[in-house]
Amino acid sequence: MSNFEAKMGLESKRVFITGAASGIGRATAEMFYAIGAKLVLIDMPSLEESELAHHFTERMEYIQADVTRADDLKRIESAMNAEGGIDCLINNAGITRDASLLKMTDEQWDQVIAVNLTAVFKLGQLAAKKMKEQGRGGSILNAASVVAHYGNFGQSNYVATKAGVIGMTKTMARELGKDNIRVNAVAPGFIGTAMVQKMPEKVLSMMEEKSPLRRIGKPEEIASAYAFLASDQAQFITGTCLNVDGGLTL
Ligand SMILES: NC(=O)c1ccc[n+]([C@@H]2O[C@H](COP(=O)([O-])OP(=O)(O)OC[C@H]3O[C@@H](n4cnc5c(N)ncnc54)[C@H](O)[C@@H]3O)[C@@H](O)[C@H]2O)c1
Repeated sequence: MSNFEAKMGLESKRVFITGAASGIGRATAEMFYAIGAKLVLIDMPSLEESELAHHFTERMEYIQADVTRADDLKRIESAMNAEGGIDCLINNAGITRDASLLKMTDEQWDQVIAVNLTAVFKLGQLAAKKMKEQGRGGSILNAASVVAHYGNFGQSNYVATKAGVIGMTKTMARELGKDNIRVNAVAPGFIGTAMVQKMPEKVLSMMEEKSPLRRIGKPEEIASAYAFLASDQAQFITGTCLNVDGGLTL
């Protein structure tokens, strides 16, 4: 008799997802909800304005928050301290403010660093503190990007944050492993969300041609990677960065 246990182990786990109102975050929320998790979804629009409104049920809470604001982080921390605590944090919120190096403004640099890097650090720190106190382990997942591996024209700010996220993920994994808190990153390739739809058609078709799978990815394909890494099926995986990119980085 095999003792193989195929369960994800995410049923009733309390999962916090930033940037959950659209794109990859929204697909991730839907996937974790379908698996049975309790969701705490975080994003800037009100629930009514967000694409989540008609999905809202008793297994979801919504926090309208900007992850770069100290008072909003306090409200997220209070939710981590509420009944059920926190089992998983998905630092998904991210922005681009593209400009070539010589044209990039300090504001463009600072905005991207604040959302994509500083907030990942601050929320990771709050989650780790709470997970350690709870003593039942946990999982922290950070959004990187394949551009962290090879750079991207016009994205010195964005690429710096995503490479930083990979380094921070490895360091957090080393520091938190003894408390069974696993920390991993996912590096999406080009995925069909608002972020990528802003890109010129020419660049997108070039990406499709370059990809061994000859297509742009779907948000739910990134959600699956998050679900796997958060699940009991990945209990021995920490400090990794999983490329989910149709083979673009080969
Ligand atoms: N789409 C891609 O091809 C791609 C590729 C690589 C990495 N990523 C990363 O995946 C993540 C999600 O990307 P996406 O394509 O779904 O983007 P998206 O623009 O569709 O969604 C991002 C979400 O984050 C929210 N957000 C932005 N700033 C915020 C803030 N300060 N506080 C709270 N929420 C905030 C937005 O409101 C939005 O709902 C990002 O970190 C992005 O860098 C995406």
